[in-house]
Amino acid sequence: MPLLLPSSLYGLARPFLFGFDPEHAHEITLDGLARTQNTPLACAYAATRVEDPIQLAGLNFPNRVGLAAGLDKNARCIDAFAAMGFGFVEVGTVTPKGQPGNPKPRMFRLPQRDALINRLGFNNEGLDAFLANVQKARFRKQAGGSKSPMLLGLNIGKNAATPIERAVDDYLACLDGVYPHADYVTINISSPNTANLRSLQSDEALDALLGAVAERREALATRHGKRAPLFVKIAPDLDDAQVAVIATTLQRHGMDGVIATNTTLARDAVAGLPHAQEAGGLSGAPVREASNRVIAQLRAALGKDFPIIGVGGILSAADAKAKIAAGADVVQIYTGLIYRGPGLVRETAQALQRDRRKA
Ligand SMILES: Cc1cc2nc3c(=O)[nH]c(=O)nc-3n(C[C@H](O)[C@H](O)[C@H](O)COP(=O)(O)O)c2cc1C
Repeated sequence: MPLLLPSSLYGLARPFLFGFDPEHAHEITLDGLARTQNTPLACAYAATRVEDPIQLAGLNFPNRVGLAAGLDKNARCIDAFAAMGFGFVEVGTVTPKGQPGNPKPRMFRLPQRDALINRLGFNNEGLDAFLANVQKARFRKQAGGSKSPMLLGLNIGKNAATPIERAVDDYLACLDGVYPHADYVTINISSPNTANLRSLQSDEALDALLGAVAERREALATRHGKRAPLFVKIAPDLDDAQVAVIATTLQRHGMDGVIATNTTLARDAVAGLPHAQEAGGLSGAPVREASNRVIAQLRAALGKDFPIIGVGGILSAADAKAKIAAGADVVQIYTGLIYRGPGLVRETAQALQRDRRKA
């Protein structure tokens, strides 16, 4: 995933970089970011953070554009993404134990539609390695004062080998570990690439999971003297009734926000294109409409004050504005970075800032 160039050069470099297998390109890029962050070479991708502060879930977001989970699964490049001007960066999904994920190839580009399909399956080095990386990040000290320049979200999941009936154990183990280091924690129950994970979105399973997580949060808040907000990340492949049940369950358990959405299993928007039939989650432009629909339903069900983080198919400033118009408070980007480069961060953050000033 090539990120190492400002947007003006990115258009020229992209065809060359897209010559690599997508996962290989991703690894090369993350290695490059990990090596150059906190060095003078970071100027290759650094941008001034747009100041467009917003208070949400008790947190001060410096602007309304964040990095979506899954791009930096092991939290190796937090400072590099901080330098790109994101208002918040979400790393993970982390699972209690390291695991290899699904067999390769497992990531595919659909450039005709600015899309990706992935079935990575939570490949990651596990909680201990993740926490060691999080603790090495220096972004909180970069501002020079006590104020952190951006927010850090830590996204947690379950191991593939853990039976779904024991999923709660994995989420609690991860929550215990990440809690003291997180500005917020995301409970990811919507990856399509871990068997049965999405079943945790249904009534009783969701009730049991969120009940357990909420109870553990109370204990952790006392132990660590801080109350970290909990966000739940959901799929776009939900009907109105399912969204309504999720909304009620989130509120019943005192969740602080919802992230909508993850990738989609639907393929209608890419039918007939090369790779369209690969198994996995589809992201980028083709998920935008479904994601916006779920956001609008959530907003209607949750009322105007419940925090909604909108994600799915943001490739331009107009797409980011459409997410806010659908009901999101802030947005996140993944696939757009691959197709448009790091310039998209400032472009979208500035557009949202301008819109708010007009309002
Ligand atoms: C290759 C890839 C890996 C992903 N891994 C994760 C993950 O580990 N955890 C997660 O919550 N979301 C993951 N996602 C989903 C994204 O965070 C995002 O919700 C989704 O891709 C829609 O946004 P986009 O269209 O801007 O990419 C992944 C997406 C992609 C493309």
